[in-house]
Amino acid sequence: MTITVNLQKHINDSYGIHMQELAPLAFSEKVAIITNPTVADLHLEKLLKLVTAPSVKVVKIPDGEAYKTLETIETILNELFEQRLDRRSTLIAFGGGVVGDMTGFCASIYQRGINFVQIPTTLLAMVDASVGGKTGIDNKFGKNLIGSFYQPKAVYIDPFWLSTLPDREFGAGVAEIIKIAVTLDEEFFCWLESADLKNHEAIKEAIARSIELKADIVAQDEKESGLRQVLNYGHTFAHVIELEGNYTEFLHGESVAIGMVMANNLAVNTGSLSHKDAARIKHLLEKYDLPTSFSTSDPEQFYDSFFLDKKSHSGKITFVLPRTIGDYVFVDDAKKEWVLEAIKGE
Ligand SMILES: NC(=O)c1ccc[n+]([C@@H]2O[C@H](COP(=O)([O-])OP(=O)(O)OC[C@H]3O[C@@H](n4cnc5c(N)ncnc54)[C@H](O)[C@@H]3O)[C@@H](O)[C@H]2O)c1
Ligand SMILES: [Zn+2]
Repeated sequence: MTITVNLQKHINDSYGIHMQELAPLAFSEKVAIITNPTVADLHLEKLLKLVTAPSVKVVKIPDGEAYKTLETIETILNELFEQRLDRRSTLIAFGGGVVGDMTGFCASIYQRGINFVQIPTTLLAMVDASVGGKTGIDNKFGKNLIGSFYQPKAVYIDPFWLSTLPDREFGAGVAEIIKIAVTLDEEFFCWLESADLKNHEAIKEAIARSIELKADIVAQDEKESGLRQVLNYGHTFAHVIELEGNYTEFLHGESVAIGMVMANNLAVNTGSLSHKDAARIKHLLEKYDLPTSFSTSDPEQFYDSFFLDKKSHSGKITFVLPRTIGDYVFVDDAKKEWVLEAIKGE
């Protein structure tokens, strides 16, 4: 006998991404702001003036990817229990992608799920990490291996916070903007070639366009069963570069910049991308001082590392390759020799 638990759900998880100077946020229930000491020292005072709620608790976690762990999650959860947050309470992620990923994960498991909102303060988090509902943490087996898909109730993007962001972190965010433009929008790519993203109006426009493009992909494939993989352009290579550099040599976005160049080498070798377009992409990365080359001591080992990635399935690895600027193709049968040449930059 089979009894069906009928769970055909009609849930509306839609939410707004508000791009404007942060306006006062009023909550009718308890709130906890999750942040780190770096962001808190620079900006918490301003945020606290804008948030009103029956109780506002600040939970500071140590700064850095190294702390994106279960241990930190437990520390946060303990603080939430001590403050007696309940199922109607809200968490506010105030920081970069690390704070955002951990806050989202805590929100998804605290008392089986409470509301959270994102206030991203890095460029990378504004254009990428805070949009799309991926939450998670790292463990000794790799990055982002534990987590959930859990959407925020709202995202508030105020480019004001970027005024204190170090240049390298800014560049890392630009790499993700370029990633989106190369795969999805030729006109946006051309605009980026002539724009100066250090200009306040230009960065606002670039953030808005990147989010629009990403949100459109997420709306079509929330849980990454196909289309959403396009956002991994450059990332298959980048994850190995991050691993080889012990997660300290390059920032994530910098590895993505090198990864895009490697993916382009492969695309040129397989005939899907012209030399000219590959050169344009590299030129745009260089304009923002992003690294574009990486010499690995052992290309074979680099290649083998692809198969440790959580995105490899049954020994196959899918590469996202640009076809022209603004279009892409998924390739899961690239010959090993071609990939090795792409890694070596040949
Ligand atoms: N969930 C997703 O879809 C998604 C997408 C991309 C990346 N990510 C994750 O995001 C993380 C990377 O995010 P990130 O690049 O924002 O790194 P991050 O959160 O580590 O922030 C980078 C540094 O900038 C500091 N900082 C933050 N805001 C600042 C400000 N306004 N002024 C000065 N300093 C500031 C932080 O304290 C930190 O030292 C990774 O863990 C990655 O896995 C998640
Ligand atoms: Zn990325």
